[in-house]
Amino acid sequence: MKTSVGIEALAVALPRRTLHLEDLARARGVDPAKYVAGLGVREMAVADAGEDTVALAATAARRLLEANQIDPATIGLLAVGTETGVDHSKPVASFVQGLVGLPRHMRVFDVQHACYGGTAALMAAAEWIASGVAGGKSAIVICSDIARYGVKTAGEPTQGAGAVAMLVSAHPDLLSFDLGLNGTSSAHVFDFWRPLGRREAVVDGHYSIDCYLEALAGAYREWRGKAEARELVRRGASALPSEQLAALAYHVPFCKMAKKAHGRLRRCDLDDVLGAFDEGREEREAASSFERQVAHSLTLCARVGNVYTGSLYLGLAGMMQEGAAALAGKRIGLFSYGSGCASEFFSGVVGTAAAARIQRAKLNEVVGSRERITVDEYERLMALAADRPPEIPPPPGGFRFTGIHEHRRQYSAG
Ligand code: COA
Repeated sequence: MKTSVGIEALAVALPRRTLHLEDLARARGVDPAKYVAGLGVREMAVADAGEDTVALAATAARRLLEANQIDPATIGLLAVGTETGVDHSKPVASFVQGLVGLPRHMRVFDVQHACYGGTAALMAAAEWIASGVAGGKSAIVICSDIARYGVKTAGEPTQGAGAVAMLVSAHPDLLSFDLGLNGTSSAHVFDFWRPLGRREAVVDGHYSIDCYLEALAGAYREWRGKAEARELVRRGASALPSEQLAALAYHVPFCKMAKKAHGRLRRCDLDDVLGAFDEGREEREAASSFERQVAHSLTLCARVGNVYTGSLYLGLAGMMQEGAAALAGKRIGLFSYGSGCASEFFSGVVGTAAAARIQRAKLNEVVGSRERITVDEYERLMALAADRPPEIPPPPGGFRFTGIHEHRRQYSAG
C-alpha cells in the first residue's frame, strides 16, 4: 500500500454576497455579542439567485484546475460531498464533470451523509489511490453546500454557503494522510435532517451539539489508540496526546463549536491519561492550547458561516493560509461530523510545499471581493423561489444556474 496520499491542492468558491452577523442581530433584537462572541461568527455567505450547489462546486473545480494547471486527463475520479443537491437522481458531480470538461473515462458520483459526506468522499478517493487501482491517476473531491435553516429560526445565524474543491493524489503537497489510523463513530440519531421536498433543515440544535461531542470522543479515542500503537503520539510525555498534534481543525457549524470540541477532546486525554486533574488549571490550559492549536483554522469560517460538508475543509484552508510554513513537516488532526450521525477523526502531515500551494488559492481575494448586503436584501434573497434564474451574468471563471428547460437544469460560464 502506498502511504503518501492526501491533498495536493485546494480551491474555494463562495457566493458573491455576505451578511454581517452584527447587522442580523440588530434586526432580530438580539445582542450582537451573542452571534459574534457566543456563536463565534462574524459573517455568513448568502447564496444569490443562480448560485446553487452545482454552480459553486463547478466554480471551485475550475479554479482548482486552472490555478494548479491540472491536465484533466490525469483525473480518474470526481466525487462531490453534498447534502443540498439539485436532483433526486442526477448527482452534482455529473453536472460538474460536464461543466469543467473532465474526461469520459472516470468514476463520477455524489456522497450524502449530512456534513460528513465530503469526508466519506475524500477517504474513498485517498484509499482508491493508496490501493494502487487508480493506476497513477488523481481524484477531485468537492464539498459544496448551501446551509439554510430559515429566516427568524434559532439556526438563522448559523447559515452559510460555499464549495471547497480538493485535488487528491500521491503528491500530497498540502497534507499527507496517516492512512489506516482514522477513528470513526456513528449512530442512528435525529439531531438534524431535511425531509424530501423541504429547503430548510429540521434541527434539534442543542441535542446536535451533544451528538457531535459524543461522536468526537468516540472517534478521537479510536484514532488515539491507533496513533499510540504506531508511536505517533505517546502517553506519559510532558504533553497530552492531543497536544502532540501541531494543529487541529474541527467541523464548525458555527465557530464556537470548535471551542466546545477542543475542550471535549482534551477531556478525553485528561480522563484517560491523567485520571484526576485541576479544573481551574485546565480551563486556562484549554484556552491557551485553543489559541495555539485551533484558532488559525477559524479565520475563514468566521467570515463564511456554515458550509455543511465544506466547513472542515474551509477550516483546513484557513489553517494553511495562516500557518502552512510553520506547520510544514508537522502532524495535524481533523474531525469531521455529519448529523444522523457519522464522524471521523483523522490526521496527516503538512507538506513542505503547502505554503506555495495555498497561495495559488488566492483566498484573501475570494473572501475579500464579496459584497456586504443589508438584512432586507438577505430576506429578499431568502424568499426567492429555489430555481429562480440569476439577475446578473456569472463572473469571469464562475458558473451560474440559468433556468430549467424541458426538466433539464441549464448553466452558463463566465
Ligand atoms: N453575549 C455573549 N454570548 C452570549 C450572549 C451574549 N449576549 N447570549 C448568549 N450567548 C452565548 C450562549 O452562552 C451560548 O454559548 P455557550 O454554548 O458557550 O454557552 C451561545 O451564545 C449560543 O446561545 P444559545 O442560547 O445556546 O443559542 P440558541 O439557543 O439560540 O441556539 C444553536 C444556538 C447553535 C443551537 C442554534 O443556532 C442552532 O440550532 N444551530 C443549528 C444547529 C447546529 O449548528 N448544530 C451544531 C452541531 S452539527
